[in-house]
Amino acid sequence: TANGLAMTPPMGWNSWNRYGCKITEQTIRDATDAIVNSGMKAAGYQYVVIDDCWHGERTADGVITADAAKFPSGIKALADYVHSKGLKFGIYSDAGRKTCGGRPGSQGHEYQDAITYARWGVDYLKYDWCSTGVRNAEEAYALMADALRSTGRNIVLSMCEWGNNRPWEWGGKIGNLWRTTGDIRDAWKGPVTYSLGMMDIVDKNEPLYPYAGPGHWNDPDMLEVGNGGMTDVEYRTHFSLWAMMAAPLIAGNDIAAMTASTRLILLNKAVIAVDQDALGAQGRRVRDDGESEIWARPLANGDRAVALVNRSEAPARISVAWPEIGYPARLAMRIDDLWNGTTQVSVKGGFSAVVQPHGVTMVRLAPR
Ligand code: DGJ
Repeated sequence: TANGLAMTPPMGWNSWNRYGCKITEQTIRDATDAIVNSGMKAAGYQYVVIDDCWHGERTADGVITADAAKFPSGIKALADYVHSKGLKFGIYSDAGRKTCGGRPGSQGHEYQDAITYARWGVDYLKYDWCSTGVRNAEEAYALMADALRSTGRNIVLSMCEWGNNRPWEWGGKIGNLWRTTGDIRDAWKGPVTYSLGMMDIVDKNEPLYPYAGPGHWNDPDMLEVGNGGMTDVEYRTHFSLWAMMAAPLIAGNDIAAMTASTRLILLNKAVIAVDQDALGAQGRRVRDDGESEIWARPLANGDRAVALVNRSEAPARISVAWPEIGYPARLAMRIDDLWNGTTQVSVKGGFSAVVQPHGVTMVRLAPR
């Protein structure tokens, strides 16, 4: 992208998946503190993003304001607080007249809002797609990108268009990430109206791997890890596949109250390192046996990340031979298991693992 930002997929936290419209400045301050205290900041989580419903009305001059009851100190003070903790601050708007939550959108106020955001110290804008009518999506996102650029401030642009206008075909020259699907639901599988189960999203986002790269990422929506609708096994699969897909890692849980097992998922440094790999190549499914899948992702140092996924309701042994993932068969391979921490060197031309129902085995392979 022209703005030179997000050379690896953005990492952070966003208020929507857990809190929806029930947010106040305290919600955001508490999350900010928890990102630091939990070790998430040290692990790379950086952007604290307020999603929908922070807005009040526009002034007579059209300047956007915050909801004074929920954000009595104002957005600038909140951004300053986030910055004082060494984190970056993100906000939300919409390319239509109204946001999905019925607050004022930015249509017709793009340059005015961009200036307001820059004054507040915004580092990241999530730009939604409700109430846009017949607006052309590429044009609408390009307009806001130009408005942000005109402020002279570095602001990551997250394009939340849900994939209907094929944003992967034009998004890379305009912004830094684009949603590829409707909203994620905190469930393994099964679409309900406009929201999708986690694995439904995986199936839509996976084929788009050619479009991702440094500065411009497919966004299969934010993480549900720790929100309670899936098992820890399923959340490990969720987190692993987001890393395999070079997806933004935007947590959406109550960090201060997270369980030890949620913490171990969100803070798995080896898995995060795969997500954040400098090559920026999105991994893909290289074999699909129906219920068993093999995923591979090439990494900058010549290693590969591999995930064995078991979609079935019973344990399954899944085997991979090196040629299936682009290595010659005769190779001594170091195999690091990224979830259980074991390391082995294999000369057997491949490896296999028994994978739990709805589970994943994720490894990093290094030819010796
Ligand atoms: C739709 C988006 O896809 C969600 O992520 C969230 O931002 C809501 N809108 C907010 O209304």
